[in-house]
Amino acid sequence: MASRKAILSLLLALALSVRGLESDDLSAQLEAIPDSDFVFTPTPSNVISAGGASQRRTSREWEALSGLGISQTSFTLQPCGLRAPHIHQMATGLLYAIDAKALVVGFVQENGTSVENTIASGASAVFPQGLVHYQFNNACEPATYTITYNNAEGGTVNIVPALMKLPKAVVMSALGVNETIYEAIVGEAPTTNFIQGPAECLQRCGGSSETSLASVAGRRLLEV
Ligand SMILES: *[C@@H]1O[C@H](CO)[C@@H](O)[C@H](O)[C@H]1NC(C)=O
Ligand SMILES: *[C@@H]1O[C@H](CO)[C@@H](O)[C@H](O)[C@H]1NC(C)=O
Repeated sequence: MASRKAILSLLLALALSVRGLESDDLSAQLEAIPDSDFVFTPTPSNVISAGGASQRRTSREWEALSGLGISQTSFTLQPCGLRAPHIHQMATGLLYAIDAKALVVGFVQENGTSVENTIASGASAVFPQGLVHYQFNNACEPATYTITYNNAEGGTVNIVPALMKLPKAVVMSALGVNETIYEAIVGEAPTTNFIQGPAECLQRCGGSSETSLASVAGRRLLEV
């Protein structure tokens, strides 16, 4: 009994000293960072394609985030723009809609149930770690939002390009299609993070999809 107690208190002391060491290391690391490196102004969008643009703030772009377990990305989705289905293998994402009229946010639960909501400016949405999710701007004006991740690196994997990298026979069987259909799908599937949205939306928005991407990419976020 006594020895069990002794072992427990030894383990506790060990755990506390390891924690102390880690936080001392982190404090020293933080103290070495110049004041101006605790803020970050992104350069023009570092991920951009038809449909939208984003600016990442991970430890790769912003050294001060190292060890803090947090990162963030800001987004501008064009009218009808889609952030393609993807996962973050290392993080849950917390979205905040800065300027949005009809931002569709959705993911698929582990048991296959689909979750979909439409939000507007001022609302938040959560994407649990590891689940396939997307954002779709179902409005005729650009949508801006940020997503904050509980990891210095989200670990992003786009689903469709990843699927298309699997062996042809595997993909054909998985989708239940023959070679003709497979070639058509692989030939046409977009591989970019952002995609210009469905024809129905583009028609409804009456050509506002023609808005030059450069005119909105990232700029609205910087003005906020
Ligand atoms: C997933 O779980 C929820 C809650 O238990 C249930 O309502 C739903 O029917 C399940 N979906 C499937 C496809 O099993
Ligand atoms: C492939 O599948 C499509 C759709 O089922 C069918 O129309 C087409 O004839 C098939 N092509 C070949 C070469 O079997």
